[in-house]
Amino acid sequence: MSSITRLHSRAELRSWRDSLSDSVTVGFVPTMGALHRGHGTLFHAACEGNEVGLASIFVNPLQFNEGADFKRYPRTADEDCALLERSGVQAVYLPDRIDMYPDGYETRVRSGPGSELYEGYHRPGHFEGMLTAVFKLFQRCRPDRAYFGEKDAQQLWLVQRMAEDLDLDVEVIGCPTVREEDGLAFSSRNAFLAPEQRAVAPIVSRALYACRESFTAGERSVALLERGMHDLLRSEPLASIEYADVVDERTFRPADSDQPGPWRAVAAVRVGDTRLIDNLELGDARSPGMT
Ligand code: PAJ
Repeated sequence: MSSITRLHSRAELRSWRDSLSDSVTVGFVPTMGALHRGHGTLFHAACEGNEVGLASIFVNPLQFNEGADFKRYPRTADEDCALLERSGVQAVYLPDRIDMYPDGYETRVRSGPGSELYEGYHRPGHFEGMLTAVFKLFQRCRPDRAYFGEKDAQQLWLVQRMAEDLDLDVEVIGCPTVREEDGLAFSSRNAFLAPEQRAVAPIVSRALYACRESFTAGERSVALLERGMHDLLRSEPLASIEYADVVDERTFRPADSDQPGPWRAVAAVRVGDTRLIDNLELGDARSPGMT
């Protein structure tokens, strides 16, 4: 059985990358580890769509706005490498903090207004840190294509914007959200949920699907769509809402009933200390609604 190549430093990554011929396409999946079935679809897409699949595992300190969240983030490198190997990924880059951010490191990638709301509002500095890491990983890995989950829709949108705005020669591809049978989106943070919290967690996806049902039935009032999600989420005492909104997918700004477009419902909900995020495409609001 072929074993996965572990690249521990920028220098090791560079010599591995230089050894590939120019005609070989590389599909890249950046992760923070604690891998699960949600990540699995990205590895599958990267290996299917390219000659070589490459992943990275780096718990990026720059994108954690809460120190405690960074500290407790699960680190499971050996299990992760076994899963990567089973998925057909050929190499994994496992930098440490100094390899990514040597002493004296200062520069950040700053995004535009599309990063200011939702996750950007509730996690100050998160997107700047995320884009900085992804930009550096793109520079180092030189992929043809990179794969991101729709589970983090605002992140996917921002990375696609960065690739286009900063002329990065990388095609950024979105992959559908993978869910547990009861609808809860797979996430590394689900492991923190106590049994009674895990039992209520699917309310987040239920609220999103209920929103989509109203939309499909013809509802085009943003206020009513959002109220429906809030009412359902508020019915669960263990859940506390950070946001449950409808956005215009083209801009990641609030959807506007007077200027309909492709809409997506997005939500962040805390269950105990664990923050769950999820989202669902609603459809094109320019198609006829109820009014
Ligand atoms: P991480 O949370 O490990 O996620 C890595 C990738 O897996 C992201 O693109 C995320 O959207 C995707 N993913 C996670 N859960 C998923 C699910 N249930 N279904 C489909 N895709 C899923 O996102 C990050 O790491 C970091 O911000 C990173 C991009 C690596 C930069 O540090």
